[in-house]
Amino acid sequence: MLTDAQLAIVKATVPVLQQHGETITKTFYRNLFAAHPELKDIFNMANQAKGDQPRSLANAVLGYAANIDQLANLGPAVAKIAHKHCSLDIAPEHYPIVGENLLKAIGQVLGDAATPEIVDAWGAAYGQLAEIMISVERAMYEEDAAKGWAGFKPFRVVKKTPESAVVTSFTLVPADGKPLPLHKAGQYLSVRLEGVGENVEMRQYTVSCAPNTDHYRISVKREPGGLISNHLHDNVDEDLVALVHVVV
Ligand SMILES: Cc1cc2nc3c(=O)[nH]c(=O)nc-3n(C[C@H](O)[C@H](O)[C@H](O)COP(=O)(O)OP(=O)(O)OC[C@H]3O[C@@H](n4cnc5c(N)ncnc54)[C@H](O)[C@@H]3O)c2cc1C
Ligand code: HEM
Repeated sequence: MLTDAQLAIVKATVPVLQQHGETITKTFYRNLFAAHPELKDIFNMANQAKGDQPRSLANAVLGYAANIDQLANLGPAVAKIAHKHCSLDIAPEHYPIVGENLLKAIGQVLGDAATPEIVDAWGAAYGQLAEIMISVERAMYEEDAAKGWAGFKPFRVVKKTPESAVVTSFTLVPADGKPLPLHKAGQYLSVRLEGVGENVEMRQYTVSCAPNTDHYRISVKREPGGLISNHLHDNVDEDLVALVHVVV
């Protein structure tokens, strides 16, 4: 729990951190991938190159930490992020790594302005936010496990259906032949592929068939310059094995 003094410091320093948000984010990711290159297999490095989505992680930490005393208001937002994290198999042990590199980036960007009190208060705020995320994600993983699902599982493409000049649907069945949990309306899954790019690649696709227990279907739009959408369109024929994770 943050002390009142830590809370006051966090709230007072949010504007200055947000003002430097862009530099903090860039510094954070540069440090993170230098210290933990294995995380390039979790993040979409194309997003990194474009620089838009990655901002959301660091900005979210800054924004949510500022509201740390009213976290009840963050319920739906936290659930959405947790769902994304779980689809990527993010684990509790990733949190200290992100926290350490975020604090380091704050220190580097603010320089002398990052007093020990400020760094300590932000460390406490991050720790509290991480605890909340970890516990929501643990509950999601437990719910999945109760439905017989843990992590990524191999699927085969059994049908490839062109829908238009730019959209192709892929029907995926589990390699183990076991019944699938019913998906919800709007549910997405993560496809994980190795050997297509430099890193392991994961992308999300909305399930485009009605709920059933033997297959999922995804409908993929060709993204100009996109790695995985073009790979699926051009190189994937029936029988490809992909790892799929659905947070059900
Ligand atoms: C919840 C969710 C559900 C989704 N559902 C669907 C769905 O049902 N169907 C669907 O088709 N998609 C869906 N998507 C999008 C999908 O996950 C992928 O983002 C999409 O297929 C593009 O992936 P890609 O690997 O082809 O492109 P990426 O390789 O990730 O590239 C994305 C874009 O970045 C550009 N880019 C790449 N490298 C650089 C660089 N160095 N500098 C600048 N720009 C660069 C590319 O040209 C491309 O335009 C969904 C996404 C989410 C988050
Ligand atoms: C308190 C800590 C964290 C917060 C507040 C946070 C917040 C966010 C937000 C807001 C998004 C965008 C969600 C969306 O697209 O719907 C996101 C995505 C993501 N987060 Fe987190 N996150 C945290 C910790 C972590 C950790 C520990 C990891 C693991 C290393 C991680 C990895 C990712 C990845 C890989 C994505 C997808 C973006 C991409 O691939 O570029 N996050 N996070």
